[in-house]
Amino acid sequence: MNDLPSPLARTAVIIVAAGSGTRLAAGAPKAFVPLGVRTILEHALDGVFAAAPSQVILVVPAGREADVSAMTGDRPVRVVPGGDTRQRSVAAGLAVLADGVDVVLVHDAARALTPPAQFGAVASAVRPGVGVIPALPVVDTLKRVHGDEVVAPVDRAELAAAQTPQGFPRAELVAAYARAADEGVEYTDDAALFAVAGGAVRHVLGSEEAFKITTPHDLERARMILSASASASASASASAPRQARHSVAGPAIPRIGIGTDVHAFASAGMLRLAGLDWPGEPALEGHSDGDAVAHAIVDALLGAAGLGDIGQHFGTAHPEYAGAHGDVFLARTAEILAEAGFAIGNVSVQFQGNRPRFSARRAEAERALSAALGGAPVAVSATTTDGLGFPGRGEGIAVTAVALVHPIAQS
Ligand code: CTP
Ligand code: MG
Repeated sequence: MNDLPSPLARTAVIIVAAGSGTRLAAGAPKAFVPLGVRTILEHALDGVFAAAPSQVILVVPAGREADVSAMTGDRPVRVVPGGDTRQRSVAAGLAVLADGVDVVLVHDAARALTPPAQFGAVASAVRPGVGVIPALPVVDTLKRVHGDEVVAPVDRAELAAAQTPQGFPRAELVAAYARAADEGVEYTDDAALFAVAGGAVRHVLGSEEAFKITTPHDLERARMILSASASASASASASAPRQARHSVAGPAIPRIGIGTDVHAFASAGMLRLAGLDWPGEPALEGHSDGDAVAHAIVDALLGAAGLGDIGQHFGTAHPEYAGAHGDVFLARTAEILAEAGFAIGNVSVQFQGNRPRFSARRAEAERALSAALGGAPVAVSATTTDGLGFPGRGEGIAVTAVALVHPIAQS
């Protein structure tokens, strides 16, 4: 510990995460979309907290305030509901700035992999009357177009691509926002709004990693970056003690995991088990489709890789998975493992229950589960319990799964 002031002393970061993620189209607001083993928002929060500002304000979709508490954990975050435009969401954040804050950084949660140093670089360049944005030089050759006609070349030396966090002196930014609200004008970003109110804006060098996750392709790019850094830490951990949260013990050693699940039969609905529909058999109760075989496999795989459990990744804090099929969980689990640098060796799973009569559909179930896991071999067996216990009384099904995973070899 030392007493050096943080570059972000007297600085608040407003993380805007209230957008709907229309272009990403991932079935949930963008901030809640998984990126590796955590959500886009959790990655954004990690970056912001690593920069150690004196206040963190998180603007989330109205009505979703409680859903982020599992992501913020015990970190000090003021959570407020956003508006129907980004500008209104920023304004909602500005309304709860703490006393003593002199500099405000406005940051898109969608720029989830922004390096923590970028916050300090922006904040330390803010001056009275001067806002600061991180920006990258434009590398493409640019044209002015009209319809399908190329009208003129554009000199890219005059252009820069703006990122966040964008930093401003507090009082001037608050005044600029009040003015924009009075005018009823929507600006493209905070810097444009600040400039119209008379502020100067300068730029510092941004970073490639601070790109905004907008489309499915951007999400894939972010996943690749994470998975490359997970693989790098997996290979580093071969010769060093475990340190990183998701690092592995050693690249050559396979790892085993166990998962169990129990569900009661429901009074209505059709059974979904082992990745198959079972017409005429009663459904199992559950937050999702009740596929206890799939759920036990998910726990076995996550446990083998040391990546938590089904509740953490797919539980009630992730409403986008409510009602989801077990196959969706399996596919996502395989992705989570791959991102953390693991391949699946094999899975063996057994359920105890009087019904359904399983043997005739064993091969079909194994194919379905294996396909959901991207081809890893899955063996499924079933047994009765000689009339003993709740499976024997026909009240429900109990499942045990084991899985072997191995760190992906580094070249
Ligand atoms: N944002 C916000 N409130 C809004 C709209 C956007 O807080 N009403 C936030 C988003 O959550 C995101 C950032 O502003 O972190 C940048 O916006 P964008 O990338 O456009 O995200 P979305 O609006 O969610 O996506 P889309 O435009 O595709 O719907
Ligand atoms: Mg938007």
